[in-house]
Amino acid sequence: MSNDLTSSAIAYIKTQFKENSDGHDFDHSMRVYQNAMSIAEHEQPCDTEVVALASLLHDVDDHKLFDTKDNFNARSFLEANNIGKSRADIICQVINEVSFSKNKGKTPSTIEAKIVQDADRLDALGAIGIARTFAYGGKHGRSLDDSIQHFHDKLLLIKDMMNTDSGKMLASERHDFLTLFLNQYNNEVKCTNEIQ
Ligand code: NI
Repeated sequence: MSNDLTSSAIAYIKTQFKENSDGHDFDHSMRVYQNAMSIAEHEQPCDTEVVALASLLHDVDDHKLFDTKDNFNARSFLEANNIGKSRADIICQVINEVSFSKNKGKTPSTIEAKIVQDADRLDALGAIGIARTFAYGGKHGRSLDDSIQHFHDKLLLIKDMMNTDSGKMLASERHDFLTLFLNQYNNEVKCTNEIQ
């Protein structure tokens, strides 16, 4: 794979996410890229370049952040970097199949999309998942208990939604850490409730 292309994609998302720190930012995209690369190592054969580019670009047309249609930002980047239309279509299809809200219950159709979706979901688990949940909750005026509810409504369900074997293994470690955190949180809250 051309490292130049990866570096260009990293430079591109750095400019795109300059203004954002809402959990869908540059750091998130880089973590998803790294997760995706480690999963891809264990899920051969797969097209590693497609995994790399789709993971780096997976949020550049997120409707919460950008007012674009038909993967406009991703396509502009790919075209500017001499990626042909048919390959750009493949990469954009991966990106479109990754989105949580657009694909409720649907399994991605290719191994590359399965990998990137797993990589994105992993970033909602473990210590980083906890940090992101409270950062998001704080920004949107949610109480701690409301953020805790989000663990039950969404995060604790992710482990059973993973696609790949290596994704499942990584998710299960991070899931256990969430449970550990929730138990400790509940114990501490119980203590305060007993005093009141
Ligand atoms: Ni994402």
